[in-house]
Amino acid sequence: MQYWHMLFFLSLILNGIFLFFFFRKKEVKKKVNTTEVKNNSSKSVGEFYNKQNDNFIKVYGEVIQAFRTKDVTKLLDYQIESIELKSGQRILDAGCGVCGPARYFAKKADVIVEALTISEEQQKKSNEYIKKEGLEGEINVTHGDYHQLEDYYESDSFDAVYFLESFGHAHDHEKVINSTWGMLKPGGTLYIKDLFIKEAAIPSLESAIQKEIKNINDAYHYNVADLYKTLHYLRKKGYIVALVKTIDLPLEDFENLTISNDFQELTGINKIESLQDYIFPVDFFEIKCYKPWNALEYGNSRYFLQNLYQMQVHNKKQEEL
Ligand SMILES: C[S@@+](CC[C@H](N)C(=O)[O-])C[C@H]1O[C@@H](n2cnc3c(N)ncnc32)[C@H](O)[C@@H]1O
Repeated sequence: MQYWHMLFFLSLILNGIFLFFFFRKKEVKKKVNTTEVKNNSSKSVGEFYNKQNDNFIKVYGEVIQAFRTKDVTKLLDYQIESIELKSGQRILDAGCGVCGPARYFAKKADVIVEALTISEEQQKKSNEYIKKEGLEGEINVTHGDYHQLEDYYESDSFDAVYFLESFGHAHDHEKVINSTWGMLKPGGTLYIKDLFIKEAAIPSLESAIQKEIKNINDAYHYNVADLYKTLHYLRKKGYIVALVKTIDLPLEDFENLTISNDFQELTGINKIESLQDYIFPVDFFEIKCYKPWNALEYGNSRYFLQNLYQMQVHNKKQEEL
C-alpha cells in the first residue's frame, strides 16, 4: 500500500472515532436532561403536602410514616431509643410533618426541637397542635428547605438531626447530607429512617422494581434513595457510620401496609390495581451516624481511626492526640 493510501485510511479511522465520541457525548447529555425533569423539586413537594395535608392526617393521623406500628407510640419509643435522645438536648427534625414525632419526643424525652417542613399548611397545623398542647417553649417550626439548613440555623448547634421518612423527598441527597454536617456539634448524631430501592434477588425482577420505584416517585414526589450511594455520601463527608439496619420492631406490632392503600383509595394516587402481581420495590432501613469529635481532649476514643481522618481534614498531627 502506498504511503498516501495509508494516510487516507488512518484519517478515516480517526474521523470515525471522533464522530463516535461526539455523538455519544450528546446522547449522555440528553439522558441527563431527561432525568432532571422530576416532580420532586422542593417547591413541588411543598405544594403536594399543602394540597394533601388533610388527607394525610385523615389516614395517617399525626405521624406520617408508612413503615409503622399499629400503636404508633411504640414506633416513636423505638425512635427515641434508636436516635438516643437525651433530656435537654437540642435536636432538628428535618421534614417534620405536622410535628407528631416532635411533640411526642419533646414530652417523652424532654428535648428541645427545631422542626422544619417544606409545607406552609403543615407548619400552620403544627403550630395549632403545639399551642393546644402548651409546647411553645419546646418546639419551634420553620417553613424551609432541608437542602440548605444553614439558611435557618446556627452552625454546630444541634445534638441530633433526624429524618423520619422525609430524606427520600430530596432532589439532591448528597447536598442534604452535607448540609446536616454543618448543623451538628462534634459528636452529634445524624439519623435517617427511610425506604431504599430494593435489590432484585432475581435479575428478571429488576425492571419491575424500577417501574414501581418510578410510580412511587411520581405519585409521592419522592426520589427513593439508593442505600449504597447514601452510605457513600455519608462516609465521603466524614460521618462515622455507626449503624445500618432493618428497623427492629416485633413483627406482631406492625401495622400491615394497607395504610398506604387507604391513602391511595382516598386520593386515587398510585392505586395498586392487582396486589397479586405487585413487586414490593423498597426496603426500610435506619442509618445512624456520628459527626466525629475533633476536639483533642477526646483523644483516643473508640472512634480513633475516624478521629485520624478528622485530623487530616483539620490539618492536625497524630502526635497532637
Ligand atoms: C412523609 S412526611 C414525614 C413527616 C414526619 N417526619 C413524620 O414522621 O410524621 C415527609 C415530610 O418531609 C418534608 N419535606 C420534604 N421535602 C422537604 C424539604 N426539601 N425540606 C424540608 N422538608 C421537606 C415534608 O414537608 C413532610 O413534612
